[in-house]
Amino acid sequence: MSQPTTHTPLDAPGSSRRGFLRAVGLSGGAGAMFATMGALGLAPTAHAAGTEAPFRAPSASDFSLTGRSAASVVILGGGVAGLATAYELGKAGYRCTVLEARDVAGGRNFTVRGGTRQEDLDGNVQTARFSDGVYFNAGPGRIAQWMNTMDYCRELGVELEVFSNTNASAYIYNEKAGMRPGAPMRYRTAKADVYGYVSELLAKAADQGALDARLTADDKERLLEFLRDFGDIGGRVAGDPAASWRYTGGQRRGLAADPGGVGEPGTPLGPVPDLSTVLASGVGRYFSFEFGYDQAMLMFQPVGGMDAIPRALARAIGGRRIQLGCAVTRVTDRATDVVVEYRDAGGRTRSITADYCVSALPPHIMARIPHNLGGEVNTALNALRPSSAGKIGLEYRSRWWETDHDIYGGITETDMDLAHIWYPSNGFHSRRGLIVGYYNTGANADAYTALSPADREKRAVAQGVKIHGEKYRTELAHSFSIAWRRTPYLESAWNYPTGGQTIEDLTQLTEPTGRVYFTGDWLSHAVAWQHGSFSSARQVVTRLHSRVMAG
Ligand code: ALA
Repeated sequence: MSQPTTHTPLDAPGSSRRGFLRAVGLSGGAGAMFATMGALGLAPTAHAAGTEAPFRAPSASDFSLTGRSAASVVILGGGVAGLATAYELGKAGYRCTVLEARDVAGGRNFTVRGGTRQEDLDGNVQTARFSDGVYFNAGPGRIAQWMNTMDYCRELGVELEVFSNTNASAYIYNEKAGMRPGAPMRYRTAKADVYGYVSELLAKAADQGALDARLTADDKERLLEFLRDFGDIGGRVAGDPAASWRYTGGQRRGLAADPGGVGEPGTPLGPVPDLSTVLASGVGRYFSFEFGYDQAMLMFQPVGGMDAIPRALARAIGGRRIQLGCAVTRVTDRATDVVVEYRDAGGRTRSITADYCVSALPPHIMARIPHNLGGEVNTALNALRPSSAGKIGLEYRSRWWETDHDIYGGITETDMDLAHIWYPSNGFHSRRGLIVGYYNTGANADAYTALSPADREKRAVAQGVKIHGEKYRTELAHSFSIAWRRTPYLESAWNYPTGGQTIEDLTQLTEPTGRVYFTGDWLSHAVAWQHGSFSSARQVVTRLHSRVMAG
């Protein structure tokens, strides 16, 4: 029988998709059949891996159609990439075991609630005493609409709500630029002034002919029209270029007293700072953040805490397949299988033998685990340098940011070492709430990491008081801080390739070594996002499944 081509009209009368595939399977073997399925868009193919082809989860029928059976896979690490690998392989009946060293699955997707206890590598022990319903997303906190994390939430039934990544009512506090305690600037004010003056400058330049080499007369008029609206600036004053196109403030800056009834038009916020003062304040440096493809509103969070995602994945995988408290101690790749030794929750040394292994551990931690994968694998793993980030969750007895500041979610930006302050996007008008009192990275994170949890709180609160006043201290109920570099079994906020390399250069990790594969957000172009973990897991699942089907 000759090989059918992929042009065979499967929808033609009398042709049966299943029959056709069976014929391919009989004549060309399972590998040929699977490749044909891939070409038909019915199954993942090796070719598809590494491209932006839509992901197709393995399915049990891939095996039943070929008389093959699923393999066993041991997955090292129960973070999002490890769980997603087990979840997708599980759809086709692979026998997966996830070994997770921590006492909770999810990895950096870690939500702290009342009772959460954690000891860091410096011996700091914290037990959260948050009230019922109060939680702290110590790791990921926001999801963009385009991310496949949204698809997993849909598939797994994880309820979502809007996460406010920007808020015109939130503050900017640039202490180094001269702002003083009690006088932060609202985002709306900063934007009005920066956009206003930039529009004035550009309008003047255009109107005075400075851009004539670039603009036609029509372009110029259209640009001026745009700038008048965008910057809320005045118009042309005939014969007076200096008085033309001027920014003089307005309601966009906010009001000292809000409008109300008759005779209460509102009180303008003043005075309007001059151009030099606005430029020197440095407030404009924060505005491009919200233009980013990964940070633009709307953004989302799971209702009740980000760990709803790993919890839902774990439920779908089946709890018995995820072994908590199991730290991997050795990986041995052999000709026909992989042996993984580990220390279980009771401290006993155990081992598991599987057909394949997927390491979803942080790369620098995998590099420390004895294995026989070769020195080049370790060189590649160590090329992904760990980074610092930290956060503190501050639970307050009242939601003073809503009642006293009219702030409902969003982020305050500062040039202090706390960097960002997040207000809760959930629980509006409820009794208590949790503010992320710092979210910082790099040297700022290291500075807080070096402190005890009590001193981290003290430092964060002392800075927050400058922006919000004394309630930032007096209404505080409890705190819990995370220092990712010192968090056992994670020891990093995220890992990027170093030395000018891209992830594509690290072929020792993008390709399997023997029967061992790698996955993680660090093996993607969405590092530090769950989307990266899911994308990488999908690639590894596709490759492993293709191999099993072609074998
Ligand atoms: N994805 C991380 C964030 O949004 C880095 O802050």
